[in-house]
Amino acid sequence: MTKPVLYVIACAAGPTQYIDEGVRVAQANGWDVCLVLSPSAARWWEPRRGELVALTGHPVRSQYKLPWESDSLPKATAMLVAPMSCTTLNKWGAGISDTLAIGLPSEAVNMGVPVAAMPYFNQAQGAQPACARSIAALRSQGVLFLDGPDGYESHAPKQGNPEAFPWQSALDAVRNLVDGPA
Ligand SMILES: Cc1cc2nc3c(=O)[nH]c(=O)nc-3n(C[C@H](O)[C@H](O)[C@H](O)COP(=O)(O)O)c2cc1C
Repeated sequence: MTKPVLYVIACAAGPTQYIDEGVRVAQANGWDVCLVLSPSAARWWEPRRGELVALTGHPVRSQYKLPWESDSLPKATAMLVAPMSCTTLNKWGAGISDTLAIGLPSEAVNMGVPVAAMPYFNQAQGAQPACARSIAALRSQGVLFLDGPDGYESHAPKQGNPEAFPWQSALDAVRNLVDGPA
């Protein structure tokens, strides 16, 4: 039986240094994982991108395709934007999809694809008034935004622990979104 396809969409936020771990956890949860990186996140992984291609068995995309190119990834069953940076949150909330990492989920959620997003930024970044507005804008479209006790709670500046990003919580939430609560 073919596995359901999860697009894991990662931004240039701390846990993306360990995105291979996030992919492995998602695979252990039964997903065929396609990894999409923001252009900034792709820079972080440029020297080791081949490892991510080998791990997922798919191209690792970070740029929009050219008009004459066809899709290189299978159709998504669901999408998880994680870790989501403050910048991507606010651009998406404002309707600016100038990266593939925003373009894919911003369209998908309005086409009935289950989309979840788990942020990773500090309390000083999150205190910007734009953040609350953007979170509300995403939720109003049906994005499952995973913050607070059931998701990721912002850390104090310089106090983050990117290696401890709660991947399993994010994947449990995606599973509930797709299947309904157990
Ligand atoms: C080493 C480093 C770590 C960063 N960590 C974070 C982070 O954890 N969260 C965040 O929102 N931004 C973080 N930033 C800032 C983002 O990378 C920056 O806002 C970038 O424009 C995000 O772009 P993207 O959302 O397209 O990936 C970090 C930047 C650097 C250089």
